[in-house]
Amino acid sequence: TYVVTDACIKCKYTDCVEVCPVDCFYEGENMLVINPSECIDCGVCEPECPAEAILPDTEDGLEKILELNTKYSAEWPNITSQKEPPVDADDYKGMEGKMEQFFS
Ligand code: SF4
Ligand code: F3S
Repeated sequence: TYVVTDACIKCKYTDCVEVCPVDCFYEGENMLVINPSECIDCGVCEPECPAEAILPDTEDGLEKILELNTKYSAEWPNITSQKEPPVDADDYKGMEGKMEQFFS
């Protein structure tokens, strides 16, 4: 599966949802997550994200992020079309440690 990492937090560009063939993105207040049991591993969303927030879960160190995607995709609403990002999205692009600062 692919997962959305904390690089998405407060960026939420939502380019990813436009290209997903199975509509498996779910929207929280500050970030999106992927439902790992619905993702078909096609990889088309990865290069679409301006914040480089989407990675295959085969990369090292993503165990916690995978758990987060699994947990919250079961709780948050499905999002299937692109919307305007937050006005200050670019201020948060590339910022380190967003998980600790903003995820609650
Ligand atoms: Fe959707 Fe493909 Fe991205 Fe999985 S890898 S979330 S199926 S676009
Ligand atoms: Fe987030 Fe990137 Fe999608 S910032 S909403 S994962 S395009």
